[in-house]
Amino acid sequence: MGFKDNTFLLGFLFLIFVIVSGATNEPSSPIPIIRRSNFSKDFVFGSSSAAYQYEGAAFKYGRGPSIWDTYTHKHPERITDGKNGDVAVDQYHRYKEDVVIMNRIGFDAYRFSISWSRVLPKGKLSGGVNKEGIDYYNRLINELLSKGIQSYVTIFHWDVPQALEDEYQGFLGHQIINDYLDFADLCFKEFGDRVKHWITFNEQYVFTINGYATGAFAPGRCSSWQPFNCLGGDSGTEPYRVGHHLILAHATAVKLYKSKYQLAPATRSFRCRARSTKCTPPPSPSSVIAPSFISVRRQLVHCRSPLPS
Ligand SMILES: *[C@@H]1O[C@H](CO)[C@@H](O)[C@H](O)[C@H]1NC(C)=O
Repeated sequence: MGFKDNTFLLGFLFLIFVIVSGATNEPSSPIPIIRRSNFSKDFVFGSSSAAYQYEGAAFKYGRGPSIWDTYTHKHPERITDGKNGDVAVDQYHRYKEDVVIMNRIGFDAYRFSISWSRVLPKGKLSGGVNKEGIDYYNRLINELLSKGIQSYVTIFHWDVPQALEDEYQGFLGHQIINDYLDFADLCFKEFGDRVKHWITFNEQYVFTINGYATGAFAPGRCSSWQPFNCLGGDSGTEPYRVGHHLILAHATAVKLYKSKYQLAPATRSFRCRARSTKCTPPPSPSSVIAPSFISVRRQLVHCRSPLPS
């Protein structure tokens, strides 16, 4: 009886479909099909993440806190939904599932960042290397390789170890250059036999402006004329100091890599991932054009010019 009823229902639905199709005469607009063959052979397909946004296990397995842990825990009111990266998408525990998904999609590459305070809980070599942290990235890299997925590693994606923030204000202190160099060296040494694509800094402009000019990101520093309740700072000078140290840190890391590691099997890419922000043309009067140009100049000249092409 159930079968009969269903047959009837299907017939009824079919009828509705015919009526509806007949009623609409609009031509269907096909979605253009994009295939791999539409791209050049060397185009790399992949996905991308940042340690703090993905890993979770924020206070586990020997990881030290970063400025983002401090920021989200002390100032949940500054985060849209008041949440934090304590668990995130739990990639630390679920990386195998993630790699399966990437493989199923057909990705060639996975770009992820190394949590500085997971491998160096105190931010510097003298504070000790966290073996568990090194092991985690080895497991991830090996799992990816087992599925033919190349790692593109971002060395720094905004998460300054809290210990260095406490000691010399992170990127405001020139000491960061040497500590970053040691961190990068550790990454090259531990993972460089399998990782051939390195990104020294993710969006250094975004880190600088949001962390030290508007105060929207950790460590939330800015001048009182900015809209946020600043946690100290000076929007007129600090972004330049931080930007300066970022460029020097990038330069020293690249120099080290070229002299110490590049003799090994060729690294195909090495870059600083500068971000180009779209600048909306300002409305008239023409005097307001200036900030837009200054913005472009700051991004392209200050961040990119010192970098060799
Ligand atoms: C992709 O390539 C196919 C085959 O060459 C072509 O028919 C199709 O129009 C291309 N798609 C786009 C969006 O360019």
